[in-house]
Amino acid sequence: MTRRHLGCAIAAVLAFVPWAPAFAQTERAAVGIEIDAAQAGPTINPNIFGQFAEHLGTGIYGGVWVGPDSPIPNVRGIRSDVVQALRAIKVPNVRWPGGCFADEYHWRDGVGPASERRHRLNASWGNVIEPNSFGTHEFMDFADQVGAEVFLSVNVGSGTVQEAADWLEYLTADQPTALAQERAANGHPEPYRIKYLGLGNENWGCGGAMSPEHYVEAMKQFAIYSRNLNRAQTGETAMQRVAVGWDSGDEDYTEAVMQAWKDKVWSWNIEGVSLHGYTIPNSWEAKGPSVGFGEDEYAKGIRATLKMEGWITAQTAIMDRYDPEKKLALFVDEWGLWADPMPGSNPAFLQQQNTMRDAVIAALNLNIFMRHADRVRGTNIAQMANVLQAMILTDGPRMVLTPTYHVYEMYVPFQGATLAASTFDAGNYTFEDISLPGVDAVAARDGEGRLWLSLVNVDVRSPRTFTARVAGADASAVGRILTAPAVDSHNSFDRPTDVQPASLAVRVLNGEVTIDLPPLSVAVIQVR
Ligand code: AHR
Repeated sequence: MTRRHLGCAIAAVLAFVPWAPAFAQTERAAVGIEIDAAQAGPTINPNIFGQFAEHLGTGIYGGVWVGPDSPIPNVRGIRSDVVQALRAIKVPNVRWPGGCFADEYHWRDGVGPASERRHRLNASWGNVIEPNSFGTHEFMDFADQVGAEVFLSVNVGSGTVQEAADWLEYLTADQPTALAQERAANGHPEPYRIKYLGLGNENWGCGGAMSPEHYVEAMKQFAIYSRNLNRAQTGETAMQRVAVGWDSGDEDYTEAVMQAWKDKVWSWNIEGVSLHGYTIPNSWEAKGPSVGFGEDEYAKGIRATLKMEGWITAQTAIMDRYDPEKKLALFVDEWGLWADPMPGSNPAFLQQQNTMRDAVIAALNLNIFMRHADRVRGTNIAQMANVLQAMILTDGPRMVLTPTYHVYEMYVPFQGATLAASTFDAGNYTFEDISLPGVDAVAARDGEGRLWLSLVNVDVRSPRTFTARVAGADASAVGRILTAPAVDSHNSFDRPTDVQPASLAVRVLNGEVTIDLPPLSVAVIQVR
């Protein structure tokens, strides 16, 4: 049964008026946040807010690609509503073409005249026809329209080193090699820019079930020969190669990759190691519903998602042993809530609804990543459209923005900001035998000197009053809040704005900022 916190009338006006506390009569726990703005932390790499788009279900076909002849408004086949929504959240990079699909993907299938492209079965995701209408040029066009860098994953599992080398040459050669000329003949004379290159994907599982030793030997070859030949990409803009690492608790790959990196010879290098970690509320076999659940599934989902902190700490500890200078980045290039597929949907399409629980999960994970910004320099939520914890859901011409999308939109100011040290007592949120931190908070300062706070009230029953002492703060503080009446409140095609941000009143007196948060809420506060 769904637990409700606010009356329906309040929910109906959330979108239109500043949020005002509805809990004056409820005892309100106090949370004091100490912010040491003088102690500047690491830069929050904008790539922490990256996306992942796999050829899986309707993630690409329907979600991004409708084709140039579609009645759905599009630019060269790419749907305009989706591009516009993604531009608004300043997507820093998009990882493509998978996932498991990447280790079965052959790039030549997706270049050249659309009518001649090879149809294959998508064996990873339901054996549906992969028409390859969305290939290399279409993806690069999509990233360009969104304004995002690209994160390509090459096929280590079933491809060859030569195939990956050719793909990189095709994409990046700035001299008239045969492959550069083929690229030009296919419509793009200028070399593309590839910022991130994934050397395989989950090669301990769907990417070839390789032992760590086998993977490391293969990875080194791919790292050497997948050359970026675009000479404009040097220094800060140079391509970064990301090796496969940790899988939700299994550290063998990270250990093997880092050992190899420590002992490496001059001819190869990598710039990062990945971590994949999904939030599974129950078990892999029965994960639990994505909508139509109550506080028990909410509490289990939050408990599961907080494992991310331990995973990052553990992988960082391994990396620190081999790389104390933190030269290599940790890329959490797949994460998010994985629930049971929607009833009636193709189970291989991984379609799920996205609720207020997803919003809290997104905020908690983004906060964890920001706190670890010294090592975590990129993450990719799974996935961008229509798959797993999606930003965007589409149904033919209709599009809906999810609560997760709204968290990403609210968190835009944290992109490139400097983490500020903060301490607070999170207290507790308890449901039956599950006891969790009641709140979460992160503080950061942007390039214009403004302080930003992200605040999460995980508790679904008790409001919280946050106070933060900020030296020099005057009366100028504003906030935005995302909250909803139920843990599974969501936006649907018929009711697309049930969950969306509203402005939030913030009080500032004598340098003390006071914010009242209702239960089940995410807020972002700007203090001048
Ligand atoms: O995101 C769905 C799948 O999860 C990816 O294809 C794979 O890498 C992971 O197991």
